[in-house]
Amino acid sequence: MGNAIANLRVTPLGDTLGAQVHGVDLSEPMDAALRDALVDAWLRHIVLLFRGQSLSPAEQIDAARIFGEPQAPAAAKFYEAQGQKQNDVDRHIMVISNLGPDGLPALQNDGLGSGEVQWHSDNSYVASPPAGSLLYSLEIPPQGGDTFFCNQYAAYETLSDTMKARIGPLKARHDASRNSAGVLRPGLIAPETPEDVPGPDHPLVRIHPQTGRPALYLGRRRDYPSQFIIDMPMAESEALLDELWAHATAPRFVWRHQWQLGDAVLWDNRAAMHYREPHDPSHRRIMHRVQIAGDAVRGSSA
Ligand code: OGA
Ligand code: MN
Repeated sequence: MGNAIANLRVTPLGDTLGAQVHGVDLSEPMDAALRDALVDAWLRHIVLLFRGQSLSPAEQIDAARIFGEPQAPAAAKFYEAQGQKQNDVDRHIMVISNLGPDGLPALQNDGLGSGEVQWHSDNSYVASPPAGSLLYSLEIPPQGGDTFFCNQYAAYETLSDTMKARIGPLKARHDASRNSAGVLRPGLIAPETPEDVPGPDHPLVRIHPQTGRPALYLGRRRDYPSQFIIDMPMAESEALLDELWAHATAPRFVWRHQWQLGDAVLWDNRAAMHYREPHDPSHRRIMHRVQIAGDAVRGSSA
């Protein structure tokens, strides 16, 4: 059965974000009307779940093209600078796997391992972070390893007017030194002071380039020294970030995804952050991620 817009059904999942898309096979061609409807659903629901998919790397890259231009993950350049490859699959695929160098599942590896993956928005540590990411499950553990998403439009909208006015003009450093499992990137040294923290400065409030809506954009914060607010005394910056992070990731803004094999989940990095709970490191968990190119982060103040 080919794809047809008449078969499309989009059903909301969480209270705050997330919807399941029924009636679409991402490996099959689709017409412009269906593609537009999927983009609309993505912008509206922030996270889309497609169940029961079967995607080769090339098909997954093509599916990502519905939503924008597939791009290689920013982490690839750290590997390439060391004369290494991030994976043997494809430059545009990020293999999210818990296998160690010996091919066996491990708690830690040079990627996200089996442990906790802290809240983040993908690749926020570059000037123009990806608009979206499409993650497809190939092997999953019997339990654990759920991925959580939080709605950052809602997080922004529920701030007090005083807080909105305070943070509107502010920027924060987005720490490029460590990945979301806390692993130092190849070729980098761990920062010892805030001045050492590599990465771009992005506005705390970003205007979504496609919806025009403001969202809180915190991105990532590893162990100190990591994220900090530009031109603010460090104690004040730490206190403000503590408050914003606690608000941004409060349960009322969060939806939890429990993976099944063949799930493809697409999220909007401009309007959501995500987190992964740990799982038993003796079980394999393998996923392929394709990211979609995005724009430079634009703030709410001119
Ligand atoms: C990612 C990511 C979490 C997970 O692919 O960007 O953060 O659940 N993954 O594997
Ligand atoms: Mn991620």
